[in-house]
Amino acid sequence: MIRIIRHSLREYKIPTIITMILVIFEGILECMIPFTIAQLISSVRLSDMDSIRNYGLVLVLLAIASLVCGAGSGMASADAVTGLSRNLRKDMFERIQSFSFENIDKFSTPSIVTRLTTDVMNVQQSFMMIIRMVMRAPVMIIFATVMSFRISRDISMMFLGMIPFVAVMLFIIVRLVMPVFRRAFRKYDNLNASVEENIEGIRVVKTYVHEDLEEEKFKKASHDMMANFTTAERILAWNAPLLQLCIYTVITAALYIGAQTIINSQGLTLNVGGISSIVVYGMQILMSLNILSMVFTMISMSMESAERIEEILDEEPTIKNPADPVLEVADGSIDFDHVSFAYGKDSAEVLEDIDLHIHEGETIGIVGGTGSSKTSLISLISRLYDVTGGSVKVGGRDVRDYDLDTLRREVAVVLQKNVLFSGTIKENLRWGDPDATDEELMEACRLARADEFISTFPDGYDTYIEQGGTNVSGGQKQRLCIARALLRKPKVLILDDSTSAVDTYTDACIRKAFRESLPKTTKLIIAQRISSVQDCDRIIVLDQGRINGIGNHEELLRSNTIYREVFESQQRKAVEENA
Ligand SMILES: Nc1ncnc2c1ncn2[C@@H]1O[C@H](COP(=O)(O)OP(=O)(O)O)[C@@H](O)[C@H]1O
Ligand SMILES: [Mg+2]
Repeated sequence: MIRIIRHSLREYKIPTIITMILVIFEGILECMIPFTIAQLISSVRLSDMDSIRNYGLVLVLLAIASLVCGAGSGMASADAVTGLSRNLRKDMFERIQSFSFENIDKFSTPSIVTRLTTDVMNVQQSFMMIIRMVMRAPVMIIFATVMSFRISRDISMMFLGMIPFVAVMLFIIVRLVMPVFRRAFRKYDNLNASVEENIEGIRVVKTYVHEDLEEEKFKKASHDMMANFTTAERILAWNAPLLQLCIYTVITAALYIGAQTIINSQGLTLNVGGISSIVVYGMQILMSLNILSMVFTMISMSMESAERIEEILDEEPTIKNPADPVLEVADGSIDFDHVSFAYGKDSAEVLEDIDLHIHEGETIGIVGGTGSSKTSLISLISRLYDVTGGSVKVGGRDVRDYDLDTLRREVAVVLQKNVLFSGTIKENLRWGDPDATDEELMEACRLARADEFISTFPDGYDTYIEQGGTNVSGGQKQRLCIARALLRKPKVLILDDSTSAVDTYTDACIRKAFRESLPKTTKLIIAQRISSVQDCDRIIVLDQGRINGIGNHEELLRSNTIYREVFESQQRKAVEENA
């Protein structure tokens, strides 16, 4: 925890130090006030008007100084604390941006979100406790003890005797409550994961009428958490009454010893003012102990959060720029040299011995059943993942030699699970090329056949896309994503099942437009429908991570069983649908 605070505090070190200094002063002042009150009461008893005025004045000044310190430390700590969490989030977010798909798979999205929100909050809160309380409580204990010794040795000795007893009691409570809190916080993670999965998949949940089951799942996660927090609070509930008991015992004992001393010494060593202030010191000592115990509970609870944040900050991106990156992609040729690939070290290979050579400008179709590793194959070209064996070359150079931005600019991939961001259509398209002119935008949309439906929207290219693109249809979203990829004028264009929601006629128009307008761009088209790939120069049939056949439509119909069977079954279906 110390490490991440030191790492991310940066420009907020000064407010942190100011807070700590002011808080210590505030503690000292608070200890001086009862002492002054005692002097004031004594003066009242002696009817000494001069000292009443003086002590009264001192009291007012102390109160003002304490107020200033209190307000100042409050403001400085607000700065320091929110600044720390801002920096932490920023650092984490930057790190996450550098993550490869493999890194993200490892943490899972809900867990990353929890770390960015709940965990940062926990650390923020305990940092607040540390700078406001941890310094102040010991100072208060020492000062209050010293001051009370000045008033009465006997009573102070009794306080000291009380301290170990209270400390043990608090220690027991903290020991009991800590594991429960830790468990509760881990449950929090489950709850977040459950909520996020459900909301993200709400459409699926609804179409499969799974609401009851999901509600049950949520209720369970929520109930687990409640049970843990209730147990924790029940243990903590003992804290206040036990402390009260101690305080009143101390007060009674102090008054008893004090009264005896006054009577025996006839008010020479101790007077009423002295007793009243020593009682306040006793309370201050016990309260500070209590605060310390609470702070330690809080800190140890947030330790786990701090560790989870550290995990993100320490995670090394698995895909990084090479030391001396190539900044230019020569052409759109692609070579797979005996490539094998597995997700993660211990997982089975999903691609085996792929040897494939594609010329610049060629149009390649890729077909194969779900899970035949089509997506995995194309992910290697733009280095979304790295090969485990062999090599992938683009433009004659190993993809691992390129600057990542350069490579990904030249290899445009329209992913199967494509995403639009909230913003206007124009803004979304400009992800492809921030400097594109309006004419270029329209040209790309014309090629992707997105212009037709955009012109029917009242706001045209300024139509606002909701988060996740919920206000456009699946086929419209796909066409916008294709247009966005086209704007990059890439050397390689990969469409992963990107026209599945587009009707066959529009699909054919898009392919025709590609052929005519992008002759030099190498095009890879993954599709379920044979009709989407049958006019490609070559078609690859993938089966269980291996190339089962390569050739054009006629060749494959003749030589490849899988291809022929898929084609025939789709033909039959088409005939049935038309009948
Ligand atoms: N991120 C991932 N982590 C682990 N395994 C994965 C991941 N993505 C895909 N796989 C596995 O790789 C295999 C091929 O998947 P994929 O390339 O998506 O097939 P296709 O696109 O042909 O449907 C499947 O067995 C799938 O379970
Ligand atoms: Mg796929």
